[in-house]
Amino acid sequence: MGKNGLKVFAPASVANIAVGYDILGFAVNDIGDEVIVREGSEPGLKIRSIHNYPSLPKDIRKNTAGFAALKLLESLGMENEAIEIDLIKNMGIGTGLGSSAASAVAGVFAVNEFIGRPYKKRELLRFATLGEQIADGSFHADNVAPSLLGGIVLIRDNATLDVVKLPAPLGLKCVLIYPLVEILTEEARALLSKSITLEQHIQQSGNLAAFVAALYKSDFELLSRSLNDCIIEPQRSKLIPHFDEVKSLAMENEALGYSISGAGPSMFALCSNSHIAENVAESIRRFYQDKKIECNYYISDINLDGAVRY
Ligand code: HSE
Repeated sequence: MGKNGLKVFAPASVANIAVGYDILGFAVNDIGDEVIVREGSEPGLKIRSIHNYPSLPKDIRKNTAGFAALKLLESLGMENEAIEIDLIKNMGIGTGLGSSAASAVAGVFAVNEFIGRPYKKRELLRFATLGEQIADGSFHADNVAPSLLGGIVLIRDNATLDVVKLPAPLGLKCVLIYPLVEILTEEARALLSKSITLEQHIQQSGNLAAFVAALYKSDFELLSRSLNDCIIEPQRSKLIPHFDEVKSLAMENEALGYSISGAGPSMFALCSNSHIAENVAESIRRFYQDKKIECNYYISDINLDGAVRY
């Protein structure tokens, strides 16, 4: 890193976790975005370059990393500081892995470090969520909170960003499956019905409460019984090729649960050990290969650190 510059990493994340639409998410290891920040040559915050995704806007008001960092600087009256950032996108857009959120988190976390860390990590959440809002027009922290803070995070209230870090049971593994189909979050949100029945509410609340209890008890059987989304998955799964078949394969191979990651098309399985995770990943990889659908997969622990400075 050049004189006075620094580099940070913010991880990808799985939002909703089946039973917590807009209110649950966890971070994963290794996949994520990076930001390099250094002193600029003229006043104001600038995005100097965007690696791997040059079509993304460099205008800081239209870019999640730029906007999150700008909001932080404005809160301190420092928007005229000469600061340049390079954004390194290591994952595709519209994958359902929290790509725009990882950029927002990396942008704000990097600039906060660069100017001497005036805010604690937890305090960056509002700026990161404002950045993420650029991507799909709504204010929800189920990707930014885990990407920033790490672990499994519950958002009790998105408006006030009242967030709770939940325990991540030891040994819990996540398989990410990403068929190469693009789904825009804004569109996947727009297709959702605005109302649910009382019966669905009761079912989903039971599962959500039991999911949280299962994390506290490290009870994988309860976790498995809880991971059933009766509201969002039935509406969105039709956007993902062969969703029902690959979910059945995952469950036959002893996954604890299988659902859509964020708005899709990525999907995730939670598994009780790496052996099961590998079997689940391999069975789905073979299935998509037979159907001639290109697909990436990845096995990860729950990332407990969130955004980090190198
Ligand atoms: N909770 C969001 C959704 C995550 O499912 O639309 C994607 O931004």
